[in-house]
Amino acid sequence: MTVRIRSDLFKEAMGRFATGVAVVTTVGPDGDRVGFTANAVASVSLDPLLVLVSVDQSSSSLDPLLETGFFALSFLHADDLEVAHRFASGERDTRFEGLKVRSEVTGAPILESALAWVDCTVWKVVEAGDHHVVFGEVQGCGVSSEGTPLLYFRGGFGTMSP
Ligand SMILES: Cc1cc2nc3c(=O)[nH]c(=O)nc-3n(C[C@H](O)[C@H](O)[C@H](O)COP(=O)(O)O)c2cc1C
Repeated sequence: MTVRIRSDLFKEAMGRFATGVAVVTTVGPDGDRVGFTANAVASVSLDPLLVLVSVDQSSSSLDPLLETGFFALSFLHADDLEVAHRFASGERDTRFEGLKVRSEVTGAPILESALAWVDCTVWKVVEAGDHHVVFGEVQGCGVSSEGTPLLYFRGGFGTMSP
């Protein structure tokens, strides 16, 4: 059965589901650091430890991510609003400029300022409409600092304290 629902209404509805904001990073085959802002991120399984990120087919990060077979998630701190905008913009070459990063297990860059990080190898990829759902098997994770999260709600950014 096909139900016709306007995509803008769908976006409005999904926009009421408040999420955190992550930067998804990897290293391209040429050694370049690659990353983009994402909120279609979820914890999936404890055995094995799995996460997922849904990546737009038109994303320039998708091919490097699939080719190198690993990625990291850095969950953004409320202070990193500019970072969220930067990794969602068209300026791909300058996204890491001035940011402190390190690598842990896979070699994917992890933002030092992140609230927490998850380092993964690609476990499975499922084509899903105009996105690829990339499942990651967790190879390492950690909590980097105390602080409040950057949140995304109704097309805007905010924060909260528990
Ligand atoms: C709050 C927010 C969440 C986003 N979530 C996703 C996402 O989950 N998946 C995705 O593919 N793009 C997402 N985007 C869009 C990408 O960040 C944006 O298209 C970016 O320019 C992609 O860069 P790339 O083409 O270099 O990979 C999001 C953008 C914002 C601002």
